[in-house]
Amino acid sequence: MIRNTLDSSNNPVAKKRPIAIRPERPEDSAAVITINDRAFAGTDESGLVEAIKQSGRPVISLIACSDDTPVGHIFFSPIQIQSEGPLIATLALAPMAVIPALQRRGIGTLLVEAGLKECARQGCQVVVVVGHPTFYSRFGFGPASGMGLRSVYSSAGDAFMALELSKGVLARRAGFVEYPAEFAAV
Ligand SMILES: CC(C)(COP(=O)(O)OP(=O)(O)OC[C@H]1O[C@@H](n2cnc3c(N)ncnc32)[C@H](O)[C@@H]1OP(=O)(O)O)[C@@H](O)C(=O)NCCC(=O)NCCS
Repeated sequence: MIRNTLDSSNNPVAKKRPIAIRPERPEDSAAVITINDRAFAGTDESGLVEAIKQSGRPVISLIACSDDTPVGHIFFSPIQIQSEGPLIATLALAPMAVIPALQRRGIGTLLVEAGLKECARQGCQVVVVVGHPTFYSRFGFGPASGMGLRSVYSSAGDAFMALELSKGVLARRAGFVEYPAEFAAV
């Protein structure tokens, strides 16, 4: 478990609150839905999480807790790159969310750092994401198009990003990232 402190200096009551990142537990599923619904102001992303969980595919799902209360969530699920050559172990980062009241205080950064560490530990070679380029570039993500990758999200331009956890694995491996059917509803 990763621990850090959340600077709540704009809150006169709270001083520093510990933030812990840990794997999602079965009893967290309602909190995961709430966090995503509040962060995205809708139910599409929590629906995606639920649908992928129901598919039975192995996922990485981490929770950020403040004082034991879940306040953030990050989710990775398997995805295929259609490409000539050996299979590239790839995960899609989607979604991730921090409750609105605690955004932009570093919790998302902790979640991504812990998530990528766990992805690497489990042998993942590439992570893809569609999201804020300025945020994800902090962790080494770059435009997927520059790595020869295309997907149904290619029209999102630089927001469709990829990160090689195994350096060089995408060299000369142009391919199409096949998002599973569950993503079509988002
Ligand atoms: C994106 C999100 C998960 C980041 O978590 P966080 O705890 O706020 O992130 P951190 O505090 O570690 O980092 C903040 C950075 O996130 C990025 N960011 C956060 N919200 C953003 C937004 N609405 N638009 C663009 N970038 C944003 C910025 O780079 C920001 O840096 P800045 O504060 O210096 O501008 C969180 O803001 C969130 O839940 N947003 C709503 C849902 C969402 O957009 N999820 C991501 C989909 S890819």
